[in-house]
Parts: sequence; C-alpha cells; structure tokens
Amino acid sequence: MDSDVVRRLADIARRAPSADNTQPWRMEWDGEHLAIYYDTARVAGKTFPADSPGTLLSMGALIESLLAVADSWALRPELELAQRPGAAAAAPFARIAFTAPADPEAITDTHPVTLRHTNRGGYTRQLLPQALVAELTGSRQGAARSWFSQEPAARARAADLVKSASRIRFRTREIHQWLSASLRFTPAAVAAGDGLDVDTLALPPGGRAMLHLISDWRRLRYLNQLGMHHLLAAIDSAPVRAGPGLLAVIAPAEPQHSIDAGRLLARQWHALNQHGLAVHPYYVVADQLARLRSGSIPPGLEPTARDVAAASKDVFGLAGAETLHMLLRVGYSRKPAKSALRLPLERVYRDTTRS
Ligand SMILES: Cc1cc2nc3c(=O)[nH]c(=O)nc-3n(C[C@H](O)[C@H](O)[C@H](O)COP(=O)(O)O)c2cc1C
Repeated sequence: MDSDVVRRLADIARRAPSADNTQPWRMEWDGEHLAIYYDTARVAGKTFPADSPGTLLSMGALIESLLAVADSWALRPELELAQRPGAAAAAPFARIAFTAPADPEAITDTHPVTLRHTNRGGYTRQLLPQALVAELTGSRQGAARSWFSQEPAARARAADLVKSASRIRFRTREIHQWLSASLRFTPAAVAAGDGLDVDTLALPPGGRAMLHLISDWRRLRYLNQLGMHHLLAAIDSAPVRAGPGLLAVIAPAEPQHSIDAGRLLARQWHALNQHGLAVHPYYVVADQLARLRSGSIPPGLEPTARDVAAASKDVFGLAGAETLHMLLRVGYSRKPAKSALRLPLERVYRDTTRS
C-alpha cells in the first residue's frame, strides 16, 4: 500500500470533529495498518480521558471519516476495533488495513467529509425535507441509533434538558477549566490549529468580553452565587428551543457502542452538511449523564443530574442500557460559519516506515 495515499487519507480525515477541537488522536501507519491512538502526551488532563464517551465519540468520528474516504477511493478498508477501546490508553482504539487502489484516478481530495463543520449561528425556521428526515430518523450503526424531531413540544423538552444540564456544567470546575484552556482569543493562538477559535462561537455583542470574564473559574464560582449559571444556561439552551430540527445520537453506555455513536454522528453530520444544512452539537446533556454514571457530578448537584437522566429517557425514548450520546441542532443557517483550523498533520500522524 502506497504510504502517500495513507498520508493523504489521514490529512483529510483529521478534519473530524472533536470536543473543544482537542483532536485527541494520534495516527500511526506501519505499512500494513493505520493505528489510532489517544495522544496521552499531548491531551491527557486537558480534555476527556481516553475511555470516556467524549473521547470515544471523537475517535468514532475520526474512524468514520477515514472509512468513508477510503471507501470512496476503493481502498476496501478493514476495521479492527479494540475490544474495549480506550481501556488501555497506550493501546490502539482501532487499526485499519487497506487494499492498494486499483484506480489511482479515483483518489481525489474532494469528499463530503471535507465539507463538515460546526455552525453555532442563527438558523431560519425552514423545516428539513421529508426524505432527509426519513434518512436521519432511521439510521443505525451497530447498536447506535438516531432520533430526530422538528416538533416544537419535543424541542421545548430537549431545551429544558440542556438548560438543567448547563446549570450543572457551569458549576463543574473541571469542565469549565477544560473549556477555558481551549479558548483561542488572539490570531496567534488561533493559528496553532487546536482549541476553540472564539470567532467560531457566533457570540452576541459583548459575548467575547463576557467569556473572558468568566473564563477564570474563581470568578465564575463567585458569580454563580449571584445566579450566573442560570443566565448562562438560559443563553445556552435558547437555540435548542428555536431549532428547527433536533437530532439525537443514542447508544448503550459501553465503549464500543460509543465508538459506533461517533461513527453515526459523523455520517449524519457529513450528510447534513452535504445537503446544505447547518449543524450545532450540544454535548452538555450527554456529558452530565456520563458524569452521573462515573460518579463525577459535583457534590450537591447529583439530584439535578438524576432528574436530567430520568427526563432524557422520556424525551428520547431511551430503552434498557441506552443513553444519549449527542444532541445536535440542525437547520438552514443565516450566515456561513468560520471554519476551525487543525493541528499540522505531523502533530497527529506518523509514518513509521519512514523513521
Ligand atoms: C464529542 C464532541 C463534543 C462536542 N461538544 C460541543 C458542544 O457542546 N458545543 C459546541 O458548540 N460544539 C461541540 N462540539 C463541536 C466541536 O467543538 C467542533 O467539532 C470542533 O471545534 C471542530 O470544529 P468543526 O466541527 O467546525 O470542524 C463537539 C464535538 C464533539 C466530537
């Protein structure tokens, strides 16, 4: 297999989405397999741990992007997923083998995965076409499935969930410190290629200064005593209420199913952006559910988290071991989004046949 083809593949797929654009992955090509690792040295302690659903979703999205592009290049990718991806941080989450392309002409750098992006701005009220709704509603990947609604009542209930989960989120030191560390306010900081470029957040006038103000945890903790978390949660959840579409990715709470959820998330996101629709993910509810399972909700806030868990079962019709993995606002955007940069390829990809 031509190493240059794999390098081009990795170069496109690394545009996959990740929490706070942390790009927690490291890809390694050994001439036979492309292995995907958690980059402990670069991201541990700064974002979700290797075995948490937040990381597994990002890894699943990277895997889906690699497979989709490799398929379109007729590389016949064969995926080998770890039994418990993320359980051993030094072990690969997955390895992918390829067949050499029969037709090198089929290899082009234009693929729907290159169109995928987040748009956090305002959306119009225009509803999605029925054919697309049917596609979104019935999709599956392994045990992961999707839920879609444009019903105002369902949106209102989902927005209430986001509001409650956000109230916990803004009182959780770890989440807040990860977010603060990922914010990129200056052109030089943005140019490094990771984290959240503040210009991609579609902030209202004064939003930048407000974000600066609250990015210090001690200040936010003080302001929360005056009810700041209520205000922030109301701002956070308002766009969910407005919709017009809400997509949820649901899967049982097991690592391999979270990878499948990440794959389904990416596949639907690719399709939506390809159809000209805008997508804005909200991880806050899924995150509080995962924190409730792992016992890491701050003391005193567990009852709120348990209420969120009970209500989410009802809103999304969760059965058995299923949990919400991601909620996305979907619609036609009023303005194009500014695109988020990525780390240089060399930071996330290594060809060991050349070292
Ligand atoms: C697991 C995960 C969680 C995310 N959570 C949020 C979120 O809560 N809010 C948000 O605005 N974007 C969220 N995102 C989107 C990322 O911030 C975004 O993909 C990343 O910054 C790269 O930007 P791009 O999607 O435009 O390429 C999430 C993405 C992933 C994969």
